Amino acid sequence: MQNKQIKIVETVLRDGQQSLIATRMKTEQMVPILKKMDQAGFHALEVWGGATFDSCIRYLNEDPWERLRTIRRHVKNTKLQMLLRGQNILGYKNYSDDVVDLFVKRAVENGIDIIRTFDALNDLRNLEKAAEATKKYGAESQLTMSYTTSPIHTLDYFVDLGKRLVDLGADSICIKDMAGILLPQDAFDLIQALKSEVSVPIDLHTHATTGVGLMTYQKAVEAGVDIIDTAISPFGGGTSQPPTECAHLALESLGFKTGLDSEKLFEVADYFKGVRDKFRQTGVLDPKVQDIEPKTLQYKVPGGMLSNLLSQLKAQHLEEKFEATLEEVPKVREDLGFPPLVTPLSQMVGIQAVMNVITGEPYKVVPTEIKEYVEGYYGKPPGVIKPDIIKKILPNATPITVRPADLMEPQLPILKQEIGDLAKDEDDLLIYALFPQVGREFLERQSIDFFDIPFDPIEMSLT
Ligand code: CO
Repeated sequence: MQNKQIKIVETVLRDGQQSLIATRMKTEQMVPILKKMDQAGFHALEVWGGATFDSCIRYLNEDPWERLRTIRRHVKNTKLQMLLRGQNILGYKNYSDDVVDLFVKRAVENGIDIIRTFDALNDLRNLEKAAEATKKYGAESQLTMSYTTSPIHTLDYFVDLGKRLVDLGADSICIKDMAGILLPQDAFDLIQALKSEVSVPIDLHTHATTGVGLMTYQKAVEAGVDIIDTAISPFGGGTSQPPTECAHLALESLGFKTGLDSEKLFEVADYFKGVRDKFRQTGVLDPKVQDIEPKTLQYKVPGGMLSNLLSQLKAQHLEEKFEATLEEVPKVREDLGFPPLVTPLSQMVGIQAVMNVITGEPYKVVPTEIKEYVEGYYGKPPGVIKPDIIKKILPNATPITVRPADLMEPQLPILKQEIGDLAKDEDDLLIYALFPQVGREFLERQSIDFFDIPFDPIEMSLT
């Protein structure tokens, strides 16, 4: 066991900044340090996917594909990894199979080496197409179990899930603990059990939200985990991953190798301290997100969701309902068959809990997304949705049981027609396919040339 190499995935450019600064880091803030990161000895850099795509077009006015190509140009040796939401791609709903296929193709062609694919419900039918496309276009397929706790989510459940991920062609498996609720001994037991049943490498992804992350990694390593995810210290801790340098130094002291170069890590950290300080000054980085929140271990609510719920309540001047909402979340989860709280289910369950508390009558107001979930359009819930809840939400409909995307016709021909010349290539088309409204607005901004800017041509004429 000692001397074994534990591979490290650095997440600052994706999950680190997504967790702490709502994915507002610009490409120009990444470029100066990419070469150094490439030399530090990471197994992979997680740089794309998750919320980065949406944030680029919605807030940063950046072409997300151009960001990927830029990173690829500077990172020549280290693998580039992305997070894909299965059939939801990088959006919040199901897309048709032809969109999933083209998206994966272009992600690989633009430089991605490893695609980590997850489904919020662990409904493997929602991973099939993305997994198939990942293999077809030659990237490593890392398939994911969304970790949560419930009477359904037992050790046997996850071990069985691991075997089924291998059957789906997983080159490696990720245990995705988005809420940071995986306790050290549970991590040990889970990884030991998985290791005895599957032979592909296992990657553990946790968040430092609850304060136990590094201990969880230690036990995971003792149980034989192959890869862990960390974020360089200025963007580590709190709702982000445990800090990279700390994991590296601690593991080396325990006799493991990480392959990381300490000096280079410190240089990378120094650079990102500057970036972090800018986000602190502008208030984008709220110090609260780096606080430890052990209550998450009780409520099982991811850190990002806690802050989100609080701001929703504040907007309605109902912040005194925060505790009540937190207590409502586990009830809603149980009513709905124990979905793991990860995008998009975390947002959906959170909003339903807020509605229940504000109206004082559970499910009096039900958002469309929750109705669609109960109808089966997000896939099969892990457990059983309570019959009286189905009756209340869907008095006249019967839930579907097929794979949701089976009900969708190919969308690309229609999308192509709709967006016309605004999409110069497949990458533009995908921007529109994923986010029809903000995607179109983004493409319109990109396409403005000099003569589209309103001015008085006579006044401006020089003679
Ligand atoms: Co994460």
